[in-house]
Amino acid sequence: MKILLTGGTGYIGSHTAVELLRGGHEVVLFDNLSNSKESVVAKIEEITGVRPEFEKGDLLDKAALSSLLSKHRLDAVVHFAGLKAVGESVSQPLLYYATNVGGTLNLLEAMREANVRTLVFSSSATVYGEKTAVPYDEKAMTGHSITNPYGETKHVIEEILQDVAASEPGWKIAILRYFNPVGNHPSGLIGEDPEGIPNNLMPLVMKVARGEIPELEIYGDDWETADGSGVRDFIHVVDLARGHIAALEKLTDGVQIYNLGTGAGRSVFEVIESYERLAGKKLPRRVVGRRPGDIGVVYAAVEKARDELGWATELTLDDAMRDTLKFIGQD
Ligand code: UD1
Repeated sequence: MKILLTGGTGYIGSHTAVELLRGGHEVVLFDNLSNSKESVVAKIEEITGVRPEFEKGDLLDKAALSSLLSKHRLDAVVHFAGLKAVGESVSQPLLYYATNVGGTLNLLEAMREANVRTLVFSSSATVYGEKTAVPYDEKAMTGHSITNPYGETKHVIEEILQDVAASEPGWKIAILRYFNPVGNHPSGLIGEDPEGIPNNLMPLVMKVARGEIPELEIYGDDWETADGSGVRDFIHVVDLARGHIAALEKLTDGVQIYNLGTGAGRSVFEVIESYERLAGKKLPRRVVGRRPGDIGVVYAAVEKARDELGWATELTLDDAMRDTLKFIGQD
């Protein structure tokens, strides 16, 4: 298959490109480089021996998108591109709706024009909202208690995709709800490299490990969990990337929704313990109050992806930690 990856030089896009190329597919990476670097293209070539095509461009430039889709004879699109900083989305909601929702509308229109109706969309467990019981099941109601505009954009896009698929035959769409992606490629060549100050746990642990931030702030040790810290479903990005290939190979008419997670929760203290054991160093940390809008425990129900896609995670939190330490040169 020839597949367009929007956001293709980003964290999850680049790892998916590697898995697709290894599977013998052709890929075209499309990215505006707002949160990634063009040098990723050469790294993907170093890992796979194949140089993916790269097209610099923005989803908000509809004309460029249309010419891109008419130029390449694509079989499918995997749509990763979007803004994802929760805090920034609260202060700049219009930017988030314009970029994430507006960009997706342009992409869907360009796909219709080019008669490409096969799409895999990067969604998030955030669409379940804070009142959902664990494990989060694909059948749970979504969109009812989302705490920020970033999460709302993911929910709105999911609704748009349902409407588009219902409007005419031919659409084959998979919505993948990611839990907490962590880790990097084991080669240490590509990985999560956010611009500015990150707000997710693993990049922050790495900033502390490199001495760029004095200590990790733990957002509460009074949650109803075994050790009191927050619990999440941390999924290795290589497992996550492989989930996209499984979804592409099993696409059927209409919209299918799958959680991509491990099915097990691990705590913030367990993440710190993994770092300290594998790095052989203490991680400076301090317990502070809970973060506004935070949730105690989140993990995925994974039976649907296992049964229908034949996909399950194979890598562990320690694998993710080891690969991340390699990426930052501390292995
Ligand atoms: C967050 C977002 C979610 C988004 C996801 C993207 C919130 C409330 N949720 O999810 O909408 O889809 O990022 O990846 O912002 N933690 C600390 N100290 C830190 C950072 C995090 O203790 O400095 C804890 C958190 O309280 C949480 C866990 O680590 O228990 C994971 O946090 P994070 O990486 O931000 O992910 P989510 O909260 O799951």
